[in-house]
Amino acid sequence: MQSVTTFHGADILKPKVSAFYDATSGTFSYVVRDPSSSACAIIDPLLDFDLNSGELQHRSADAIVRYVESKRLQVQWIIETHVHTDHLSAAQYLKDVLGGKTAIAGAVCKEQRHYARLLNLPRSFKTDGSQFDWLFRNAEHYLIGNMQATAIYTPGHGLSCMAHLIGNAVFVGDTLLMPDIGTGRADLPGANRARLFHSAKKILRLPARTRLFVGHDYGGEERAYVEYQTSIGQQRRHNCLVCERSRESDFLRRRSALDRTLPAPELLFAAAQVNIRGGHLPPPESNEICYLKIPLLSPASAAGSVRG
Ligand SMILES: [Fe+2]
Repeated sequence: MQSVTTFHGADILKPKVSAFYDATSGTFSYVVRDPSSSACAIIDPLLDFDLNSGELQHRSADAIVRYVESKRLQVQWIIETHVHTDHLSAAQYLKDVLGGKTAIAGAVCKEQRHYARLLNLPRSFKTDGSQFDWLFRNAEHYLIGNMQATAIYTPGHGLSCMAHLIGNAVFVGDTLLMPDIGTGRADLPGANRARLFHSAKKILRLPARTRLFVGHDYGGEERAYVEYQTSIGQQRRHNCLVCERSRESDFLRRRSALDRTLPAPELLFAAAQVNIRGGHLPPPESNEICYLKIPLLSPASAAGSVRG
């Protein structure tokens, strides 16, 4: 079985991982610490946003701030595993408070072009990824303190999906969820079920003992609690949609049937407009208030549907 990492055993450190759960969106954010220094990375932080009232709050992000400050950590990276469609990124807020470089896959530029067209964003909106401090390439190596990390491009759930192998832990976003749930959906803008299958298989080629941290959990049919950590070995044996034995044709059929049961995410357009800006809000209007757009997609409109 081929490995996607080139690290040698002696180089692999075991990061300390702290998870922060948002029950509203079922999202896990992570602080990943280099055990040999005070350096850390924050993965997928979120803002608390109430669509009905328009209120933005920083409760979840401030929990991360308190944790980082209490441990006297130095934030080097604030990483998005993809352009989320179910929550708004707190990357800029945390950068302002704690420092660190915001980063996402370079493929974010394609998502920026998609949403710029769909939402008719002004020409001043740049589609070159410059809202982020760093754009990762596939297989790019980087450091968190002394700990080696690799960005692994995993398109399928979305165009900008990237898993991050950090020491002996991999953060997969929505490409794989807990084994009884399977994978993230593959029907929103930029999604592609076949690519999701092959990206999930690519992750399964990591060493079996690699710890695997998921981006979401909602509890399964048989459990009333949420989980965030499993391993590559467990996923290979037990993932209900993409395990070692799974065939692409079965996955396409089953993922497609599941996707047909899912409503569009409540925060799809709100989240996209903030997240393609790297966590910046849209520019304020003349009254100093920021606004979000929602396209009205009739069946006869050019876009027709947001579904892939
Ligand atoms: Fe997602």
